[in-house]
Amino acid sequence: MARLGINIDHVATLRQQRKTTYPDPVSAAAMAEFNGADNITCHLREDRRHVQDRDVRLLRETVQTELNFEMAATQEMVRFALDIKPNVVTLVPERREELTTEGGLDLSLLGDSFTRSIALLREAGIIVSLFIDPEPGSVKLAHRMGAQAVEIHTGKYANTVRADDKGRELERIREAVNFSQKLRLTVHAGHGLHYHNIQEVAAIPGIESFQIGHGVVAQALYIGLGPAVREMKNLIEKCSS
Ligand code: PXP
Repeated sequence: MARLGINIDHVATLRQQRKTTYPDPVSAAAMAEFNGADNITCHLREDRRHVQDRDVRLLRETVQTELNFEMAATQEMVRFALDIKPNVVTLVPERREELTTEGGLDLSLLGDSFTRSIALLREAGIIVSLFIDPEPGSVKLAHRMGAQAVEIHTGKYANTVRADDKGRELERIREAVNFSQKLRLTVHAGHGLHYHNIQEVAAIPGIESFQIGHGVVAQALYIGLGPAVREMKNLIEKCSS
């Protein structure tokens, strides 16, 4: 059965809009865990637009499940991760002008320093996952570069409207999951998932966890964070086996 990781960046976004002390992503993480979240994810961006260094340090001390730390593979972030030692580091592409992470890593453009970052993180006992589009070439490169896991970008699937496009995207995800499993990579998936599109992707066998932020935090405005986490967890449990 697939697990649920809750991304608390969007709680930090709301706080940073007014530079207040609330809502606190660290409290939100605890509440998500009380309600069944299997891991907590946060992304410390170079521009610190939402999550702050302080949040990650506190999360490292307070998260009871697993901390999945998303970051760009910069020297600054690698140093920070080696200091914090999250359970998992998910390496993501990062562009200042984007609203959110828009695509997976283009691993064909990343060279020795990227591979060295993976090795450094692994030597520190951190599991390294690479955020990639559902493409066999990316899966192969992730494996060759030494990652232990991949997170399949589901954004394109989530944005499809037409049924045949959706079917095609689901097929690409299914194939990427199968190929990752053949290479013994742990598979995570996420981006753009919500209460009306999780069902079909959760039914794909072999995905170990879903990383979800915006949809759950938005639902929390209506029904509260605890019920929003529980509702998503129930949906995933019902659809995955
Ligand atoms: N996975 C990764 C690598 C991400 O960058 C994000 C967005 O921060 C998510 C999952 C969660 O996406 P969403 O907020 O759309 O659920």
